[in-house]
Amino acid sequence: MKKECLEIVREKCENCKACALAASRTKMVFADGNPETARIVLIGEAPGEIEDECGKPFVGRAGQLLDEFLADAGISRENDLYIINTVKCRPPENRVPEETEQAACRKFLDAQIDIIKPDAIILCGATALKTFVETDRKRTISKLRGQWLTITVDGVEYPAMTIFHPSYLLRNRSMEEGSPRRLMQQDLREIKNKFLAEKNNIFAAQPELAAV
Ligand code: URA
Repeated sequence: MKKECLEIVREKCENCKACALAASRTKMVFADGNPETARIVLIGEAPGEIEDECGKPFVGRAGQLLDEFLADAGISRENDLYIINTVKCRPPENRVPEETEQAACRKFLDAQIDIIKPDAIILCGATALKTFVETDRKRTISKLRGQWLTITVDGVEYPAMTIFHPSYLLRNRSMEEGSPRRLMQQDLREIKNKFLAEKNNIFAAQPELAAV
C-alpha cells in the first residue's frame, strides 16, 4: 500500500521542474529503504555526485561511512530505515541547497514522511536540522545532536534526533571519547535501543517466538 502511494509521489518528482536543479541533475534521487518495514526516516542534505549518477541516496564516501556506523549500532539500512534528502536533485558543485530549492521540494519530503508514518525521524546534518528546527548561535548542531526533539510534519508530531553528517566525520577521524565519531556511535546506538530493540527483546524473553 505504502509502495503504491510512494510510486505516485516518485512520478511527480520525476516530472518536477519547480526549481533549477532539475535541469542540471543526472538522476532524481527519490529514496532508499523498504517502506513497508522501515520504522525510522533518515533525512540527509542533498544528493552528491555518486548519488546523482546512481539515483540512490548515501552511496558515495559519506554513505559508506554512514553504513559502517549503522552496522555498528545494529540498524539495518535495508529494513529499518527509509532514507531521503531535503532535496531530490544534486546542487551543482555539492553546494548546500538554497531555501527556494528546499521549499520547492518540501511537499515531496512531507508526502514521503506522511506515507511512511515513522516511529521516529533522524535529522542527519545541519541542513536537515535547519529544515525542521529553528537554530541560532546557541542552538547549533553540536548542541542539539543527541537530543530527542519533537518535530511536526503535516500536523503530525514525530520524535526526532539530530546526528552529525557523515561528510563531517570524514574530516574528523578521531574515535576519542567525546569526538564527533564517538558521539555519532553513541547517538545511533541510542536510536536503536529506543526504537528498534524491543522486537529483539521480546524474542530474547520468549525464544520460541524467534522462529516465527
Ligand atoms: N549526502 C547527503 O546528505 N545525502 C546523500 O544522499 C549523499 C550525501
